[in-house]
Amino acid sequence: MTDCTDIKNGHLTVGGADCVDLAKEYGTPLYVMDENTIRAACREFKASMDECYGEGKGMVCYATKAFCCKEMCRIMADEGMGIDAVSGGEIYTALAAGFPAERIVFTSNNKKDEEIAYAIDRGVGRITCDNIEELYRISAIANGKGKTVRVVLRLKPGVEAHTFEAVMTGKIDSKFGFAIETGEALRAAKEVAGLPGIDLAGVHCHIGSQIHEIAPFEKAAEVMFGFIAALRDEGIMIRDLSLGGGFGIRYTDADKPLPYGEYMKHVSARAKECCEKLGLDMPFMMIEPGRSIAAPAGVTLYTVGSRKTIPGIHTYIGVDGGMCDNPRYALYRSEYTAVIANKADQPKDEIITLAGRTCESGDLIGEGMPLQHAEAGDIAAVLATGAYNYSMASHYNRVPNAAVVMVKDGKARLAVRRETFEDVARNDV
Ligand code: LLP
Repeated sequence: MTDCTDIKNGHLTVGGADCVDLAKEYGTPLYVMDENTIRAACREFKASMDECYGEGKGMVCYATKAFCCKEMCRIMADEGMGIDAVSGGEIYTALAAGFPAERIVFTSNNKKDEEIAYAIDRGVGRITCDNIEELYRISAIANGKGKTVRVVLRLKPGVEAHTFEAVMTGKIDSKFGFAIETGEALRAAKEVAGLPGIDLAGVHCHIGSQIHEIAPFEKAAEVMFGFIAALRDEGIMIRDLSLGGGFGIRYTDADKPLPYGEYMKHVSARAKECCEKLGLDMPFMMIEPGRSIAAPAGVTLYTVGSRKTIPGIHTYIGVDGGMCDNPRYALYRSEYTAVIANKADQPKDEIITLAGRTCESGDLIGEGMPLQHAEAGDIAAVLATGAYNYSMASHYNRVPNAAVVMVKDGKARLAVRRETFEDVARNDV
């Protein structure tokens, strides 16, 4: 079970709400998000940020790419979070939800001019820049508007999570950011430091996702402080440092996530050591957790439609969703935990393949999944689907996107309406 799930009267519950009742009321497939779990993760990150760096000395920016809708942005505003937005669409959603523009950081690797102009017009607090062409475009657009943008440079610290000891340089082969070790980053910083419309205030890195180790984060911090010192030696004073997101969560029992405070404790200790050694003031610190805030809070509900046993090979349990609402198995072979919500107290005595509904053999939610005996009409729940599921949904086969409900203390409310066939064809001319 994840943090937000439990079993009551033989049924799976999310945030205290019975999944069978939710499926009946809102239909399936259905994304269910537990507000208390989301808020608890925000508070855990914020409390450890305050504890490690001091109150007001940093900002926890929720990476909206993990799960973005107005209701989520309202919760983020209420929790006093920042937002790390990756596109004009995410910025629009946050602003439409009343999220304060100055707490938005716009981080992406190939921004359109319209998006840059939109972010500047709406007073977005910081723009994280990925390449030299983008820096010149930001400078021209900001200068044309008589404005100055607080810019953060996205860097490749050359740290690879999971295998970082063996492959310290592996990550310079990435489409994101400026490489430090080739000198590219320093050249870019020197080139743009004096550009009109640009206040080169910060540096940023993001070393990967679903990371369960602390050492790569510590190493990345060390590399970043080294670079900040190199900039200082060139007369460029850095005030903001973002160390990105990437904190791992539990999808199955094989995942052993650390408490978020543990990362922060170790990384901040290393950061303080670096500042002391290099004679630097501690910059304003930012992190950008996405998955760790949204994923554990989410469960997706499906109605089982079919059961096919191919003797000696597989039992396929066919559900009314799949890669359109959760493409992560098809894309990454990601593993999930599944439960039959109306048989949640029964033993998982079968090993099955959970199959999606689209015309694609690869449309599976998982293979080799332990599950209760499932039959047509049962409600299948897939746990820890709050991040990179709804946000990566597609319309393959013109399948309308599923609805999202937000649950709090056992009560559900609609956060995103289920799409209709008309919605799917809305922009057809
Ligand atoms: N900051 C930056 C600059 C990022 O690129 C990302 C994720 C994050 C923050 C948030 O990382 P998180 O805390 O969520 O790990 N679609 C993939 C995940 C892609 C992550 C991309 N960047 C998946 O479903 O696993």
